[in-house]
Amino acid sequence: MQQEGLDPETLAIHGDGPGEGSDVAPPVHVSSTFRAESAEDFDRIARETRPERFYTRYGNPTVARVERVVAGLEGCEAALLCASGMGAIATTMLSLLSAGDHVVAQRSHYMGTARLLAECLPRFGITHTLVDQEEVAAFEAAIRPETRLILLETPSNPVLAVTDLAAVSTLARAREILTLADNTFASPINQQPHALDVDLVVHSATKYLGGHSDLVAGIVCGAKSHLDAIWSTAIMLGASSNGFDAFLLLRGLRTLPLRVARQNATALALARFLEAHPQVVRVHYPGLESHPGHALAARQMSGFGGVLSFEHGGGAAGARTFVERLQLVTNAVSLGGVETLVAHVGSMWEDGGEAERHAAMTPGLVRLAVGLEHPDDLERDLAAALA
Ligand SMILES: Cc1ncc(COP(=O)(O)O)c(C=O)c1O
Repeated sequence: MQQEGLDPETLAIHGDGPGEGSDVAPPVHVSSTFRAESAEDFDRIARETRPERFYTRYGNPTVARVERVVAGLEGCEAALLCASGMGAIATTMLSLLSAGDHVVAQRSHYMGTARLLAECLPRFGITHTLVDQEEVAAFEAAIRPETRLILLETPSNPVLAVTDLAAVSTLARAREILTLADNTFASPINQQPHALDVDLVVHSATKYLGGHSDLVAGIVCGAKSHLDAIWSTAIMLGASSNGFDAFLLLRGLRTLPLRVARQNATALALARFLEAHPQVVRVHYPGLESHPGHALAARQMSGFGGVLSFEHGGGAAGARTFVERLQLVTNAVSLGGVETLVAHVGSMWEDGGEAERHAAMTPGLVRLAVGLEHPDDLERDLAAALA
């Protein structure tokens, strides 16, 4: 199918093409292995890069459909579905990097990514420098002759700091350094890093792409040549996904544009409500004019996303009481599902020195991942818990 010019709302539904047979809904391919029609066929398929019907760790028809949809939504040539977001990030980095290489990354990254950089990669001789992601000049200053990758995440988890994707990609391309952006918080509906010259885009598909808190998956998108190399690492590491998760993800993807549009609107309304509340010291949401990255976010995003965080006036104790008092909003990690989730993220790095990663990471920090409930019901729940 010719995909050029199609709107994301159409791509989410038709981006995988009609598939085989007359099924309107995609079949779930649960088989771990696939029969070859002849010895000759077996030899040919076994030598293929990314075969769809050989062995599910190498590829799977339901998995391939998800990859086509997400690659289309991200405006990329190819995608690779992995067992989790961390599986996608770790596989991509282990595929691109070798001993002696250096990575420039942000101070504010998802905790798992920060740990991968700090605890795992140094054991394989890969070093990194953390920079203030709001300063393009800080990325440039951190680049060394051995820098091979710039790792980005915008808006970042959990303080919603915004990075200038086009400016960082420009300075990276001039030096032949690859860029990899975690687009989980924005989703491809609100932001397309590849269109801003970022080489590779990664998601925790567990979040908005799946959208129903019922699967764990990750996906990396980019040029076919990069994805072929990442696939070759993924099959060695066993980072692949499977037909069941891919089926759920495909089902979730069909409504991604609608869900994200609603989550954008509700998050903005709740951010404004919280900003005006006397118990709240500060709200981090790129859609608010008070956010330091607002102008940049308005330029590089078409919506501001469904996640916000705020500093409770009562510090860590106030934040804990607030979370416990909520009736409708659920106290759980993760984001991007139909149900609104809250997490007292300030307590998650109290003892690990993690607070130094970003000045906004204070003990009273609460993250709210907005779902699809009616905004008035959510506002009433927040108001009662803050009272
Ligand atoms: C921004 C971001 N990237 C990556 C991940 C990791 O994804 P997963 O839990 O699917 O491994 C998360 C999980 O919370 C995340 O928030």
